[in-house]
Amino acid sequence: MIIGVTGSSGKLGRATVERLTAEGHEVIGFDLVGSAGAGFTRVDLGDYGQTLDALFGVTARHEGLDALVHLAAIPVNGLVPDVTTFHTNVTATFNVLHAAHRVGIDNVVFASSITAMGFPFDEAPPQLPVDETYTSASNTYGLGKVAEEAIAAQLARWGSSAYTALRFTNVVAEGEYDTFARAADPGYRRDLIGSWVDARDGARAVALALADPVPGFRVYNVASPTSGTADPSRAVAARWFPGTPVASDLGEYESLMSTRKIQAELGFVAEHDWR
Ligand SMILES: NC(=O)c1ccc[n+]([C@@H]2O[C@H](COP(=O)([O-])OP(=O)(O)OC[C@H]3O[C@@H](n4cnc5c(N)ncnc54)[C@H](O)[C@@H]3O)[C@@H](O)[C@H]2O)c1
Repeated sequence: MIIGVTGSSGKLGRATVERLTAEGHEVIGFDLVGSAGAGFTRVDLGDYGQTLDALFGVTARHEGLDALVHLAAIPVNGLVPDVTTFHTNVTATFNVLHAAHRVGIDNVVFASSITAMGFPFDEAPPQLPVDETYTSASNTYGLGKVAEEAIAAQLARWGSSAYTALRFTNVVAEGEYDTFARAADPGYRRDLIGSWVDARDGARAVALALADPVPGFRVYNVASPTSGTADPSRAVAARWFPGTPVASDLGEYESLMSTRKIQAELGFVAEHDWR
């Protein structure tokens, strides 16, 4: 396939380009920043004209895309004013998803986030592990992700395209494993309910979703199936969320951010584990 990847210069974007290229796809990256050359075009996705044109075709780059992966965003609150996070991300995602619809790209995978389902979990979730049926935003970044999922869910009704939202948890790059030196600290990753995912496994989830497009809208959590905390998950759940129901079949180190759906439906398994 010829696949467009927005945010291709970012942490998840780089891993995704590498993965899809290794699988034999032709990949065209789109980002605000990046080195000019084959396989990359600089685009400001905040500008609808640029976005639409870039998805239609780019001289010397591509004449049409079979699928699109949308990862470009401001990836966390705090980098810019909160309102700018919301405006930037929701505008870019509307532009990308709507332009893809206009152009007729019928296989779209995009990044949502754990922030659409309770982060930083000051309120206890309804049950553990937390699955995709729970939606709860606590800041403008998370609110944007909830809005972006809603946009895709409605666009899915306007045709027969496949839209897959991937709710990534904290993405850990190959060189960032030092963080797990603190895995035994009682509060480590509390706001992430202990979850994490290696960037290369995140890219694997993208590839699996692209390979199995289903018309309509669907959402999957993307986390390592095992937790980022040293203690067993049932003890961690009791420490952080006393009284919250915990699945009777919770695995010893199973992630409290459920990955059961993506494992069952897309065959996701993690290739990397900090343990
Ligand atoms: N990193 C995480 O822990 C994490 C967790 C959950 C969800 N996500 C989501 O995953 C996606 C990728 O995150 P990341 O960690 O790779 O972020 P990143 O900041 O490393 O990369 C994002 C890229 O998007 C580009 N970009 C931003 N605005 C743009 C615009 N208007 N036009 C073109 N390019 C633009 C940036 O230049 C950057 O290269 C984002 O949607 C993010 O919200 C990330």
